[in-house]
Amino acid sequence: MRILVHKEKCQGHARCWSMAPDIFDLDDEGYIVAGDIDVTPDDEKKAWRGAKSCPERALEIEK
Ligand code: F3S
Repeated sequence: MRILVHKEKCQGHARCWSMAPDIFDLDDEGYIVAGDIDVTPDDEKKAWRGAKSCPERALEIEK
């Protein structure tokens, strides 16, 4: 599974990070770090929850 990061949509809510801090990296100002994220099968559930938690829909799950 892969998560496409639409950094331009990020408003720094940090909900993704609070769900899965080891998957979603934030920069010093609290915005998601650019670059798509490859998720291992073991981490899919929490990555999915984190991506869905973003109110700006900045994290798109690629199927
Ligand atoms: Fe940004 Fe959404 Fe996470 S606004 S910090 S990608 S919850």
